[in-house]
Amino acid sequence: MTRPQPLLEVDGLSVGYGIVPVIEEITLQVGRGEAVALLGANGAGKSTLLKAVSGLLVPGAGSIRFDGRDLSRLRAEALVTLGLSHVAEGRRIFRRETVLDNLLLGLYRLRLARAETAARVEEALAMFPALRQKADQLAGSLSGGQQQMLAIAQALVRKPRLLMLDEPSLGLAPNLVEEVFRTLAAVRAQGVSILLVEQVVERALEFADHAYLLQSGRLSGDGPAATLRGSEQVRRAYLGAAAAHAPS
Ligand SMILES: Nc1ncnc2c1ncn2[C@@H]1O[C@H](COP(=O)(O)OP(=O)(O)O)[C@@H](O)[C@H]1O
Ligand SMILES: [Mg+2]
Repeated sequence: MTRPQPLLEVDGLSVGYGIVPVIEEITLQVGRGEAVALLGANGAGKSTLLKAVSGLLVPGAGSIRFDGRDLSRLRAEALVTLGLSHVAEGRRIFRRETVLDNLLLGLYRLRLARAETAARVEEALAMFPALRQKADQLAGSLSGGQQQMLAIAQALVRKPRLLMLDEPSLGLAPNLVEEVFRTLAAVRAQGVSILLVEQVVERALEFADHAYLLQSGRLSGDGPAATLRGSEQVRRAYLGAAAAHAPS
């Protein structure tokens, strides 16, 4: 199966927190309009990879290109204006601000005209009716599922071309997980490329076009998501996590 033209190209990327690399020689692509899943056990380096792509960590080696442009010297804020949005792990919203103010804070750095700001907030609220009802309430009073919706909405108001999400379904009840995936499907239908890190592997593979498997900081495989569903290769990538999560 041929993949679309790449929007994000990661080539030979190594990143760590000190001198020891956590991920090594990672090469992957996210195509235009493509949904890509990045899968792997806890500690495999998935969050580290997303942080490097969004400019929060400086690569030790390798390159990151977005729409043909080298990102390695750009800071996180510049990447936002280029069209990269990262929904970090753990619903990083401003709990003591209202839902509406959270959306406005998502736009703060873009310095848009007032009419454009209003239009974008309106668009986000149209996509998340539950948030519209609670626009004036404190974000901290929302349910876990609604907080995740808000975190995603806060990224979407910036009109990203690539949306990266780090375990958006973590800690959510199954019906809310489904709601998150429905939202992502709607985002994708607008032509936004998606790079998704998920622990709900089967659901992520059902959603994605293509998937990469990360094992102890290195890629252990990739392929069309439909091919990887239920495969032994995926199961092996998760063995560590399965052991850690097994009921005692
Ligand atoms: N801030 C940090 N400082 C040092 N080591 C870290 C830091 N964050 C993560 N690590 C280590 O990097 C490895 C990969 O972590 P991470 O990217 O969070 O994995 P994943 O998201 O796949 O669970 C782990 O061994 C973790 O302990
Ligand atoms: Mg992580």
